[in-house]
Amino acid sequence: GLLTGGALAAGGALAGAGAARATAADDRRPGEPEPAAGIGRAVEPFHGPRQAGVTTEPQAHAAFVAFTLAPGTDRAALGRLLRLLSDDAARLTRGRPALADTEPELGLLPARLTVTFGFGPGLYAAAGLDERRPPSVADLPAFRVDRLQPAWSGGDLLLQICADDPLTVAHAQRVLVKDSRPFATVRWVQRGFRRAAGAEPGRTQRNLFGQLDGTANPTPGAGLDAAVWVPDGPAWLRDSTTLVVRRISMNLETWDLLGRTDRELAVGRRLDTGAPLTGSAEHDEPDFAATGPDGLTVIPDFSHLTRAHVTDDRQKILRRPYNYDGAPTADGHADSGLIFASYQADVARQFVPIQRRLAERDLLNEWTTPIGSAVFAIPPGCTEGGWVGQQLID
Ligand code: HEM
Repeated sequence: GLLTGGALAAGGALAGAGAARATAADDRRPGEPEPAAGIGRAVEPFHGPRQAGVTTEPQAHAAFVAFTLAPGTDRAALGRLLRLLSDDAARLTRGRPALADTEPELGLLPARLTVTFGFGPGLYAAAGLDERRPPSVADLPAFRVDRLQPAWSGGDLLLQICADDPLTVAHAQRVLVKDSRPFATVRWVQRGFRRAAGAEPGRTQRNLFGQLDGTANPTPGAGLDAAVWVPDGPAWLRDSTTLVVRRISMNLETWDLLGRTDRELAVGRRLDTGAPLTGSAEHDEPDFAATGPDGLTVIPDFSHLTRAHVTDDRQKILRRPYNYDGAPTADGHADSGLIFASYQADVARQFVPIQRRLAERDLLNEWTTPIGSAVFAIPPGCTEGGWVGQQLID
């Protein structure tokens, strides 16, 4: 599957189709061994009708960088900014240094780098193009579970930078932030991680509660396109999507007090296999009607699984979250959680009803608290020589 299938398999297939497209230049000295599975040199194509970094098999490391546009960054200035950032992204993603790169050696290992551009409500306003903003690209309605902090919320422009190597992410972030400086200030940065590339290929990742996280995601051929991509409309909408980023703190202290059974009841799935409580394997269909000897449903009615579940492909969301793990306090309390990131064609149709149900009732709410929230349109991709946002702004 898409999020469980092998990055390595995909890399291999691409390499077979044409090594120049699939991997960056090989600068090994004679006799030096090939690095593990060629992870460092693997390339995700930047150009195409749809942006990379959405249905791309999630890389191990991510930085979500949100900007506030400077006063005076108007439609023309936005064009210059997006042209510049697209050029940086096009070079770095194929393993070439950016123009005037001050650390060119750090640009040589793309490690499947993707740079995904997101447009917040303020960008449409700054460009004088508010009538082109998808209506649900706006602040989300308030949910009663929210404890949102301005420091983790909002943003006019987002760059989601992902790669299988943390140094590659750091360098790309540095280049892109530096080139944004005349146009925008950094509003927030959220850094996250999953398992190292190749550590557990083909498996669903685990979050810091130890749960398999991503099992029920739509997959290619099984609803992925219908869930994620806008199928038609004007050029700035077709092949676009939207991104919701929620910083959700996870209370590991109180979670630690729960027994295994209660942990599994809260979600409705087993911790070891990820199987629904009514099944034995991760991808077994949950049976929400099955009851136990006590007459109660085996999967609790208020479990995260029951409350989040949707069957219609057009209502599903693609979750692409990363774990975050800040420094613990002096007395050892964790600062851990999830950078929840979901892609969907329409925030109002797909994300909001799920989040509304979860906010009303979800056993998991006892241990999770949303502390940041932002929504972005993810415009279509661009062709070689073009730039992201061109269909909207040019
Ligand atoms: C499923 C954890 C927040 C939507 C799951 C599963 C876990 C999980 C363990 C089951 C395995 C899977 O299918 O991935 C968490 C944690 C959260 C969180 C720890 C917060 C820290 C959210 C939020 C939303 C959401 C904010 C959307 C508003 C879903 C959906 C499913 C799911 C749609 C699939 C349900 C189905 O089986 O159809 N989550 N989740 N989750 N979650 Fe969450």
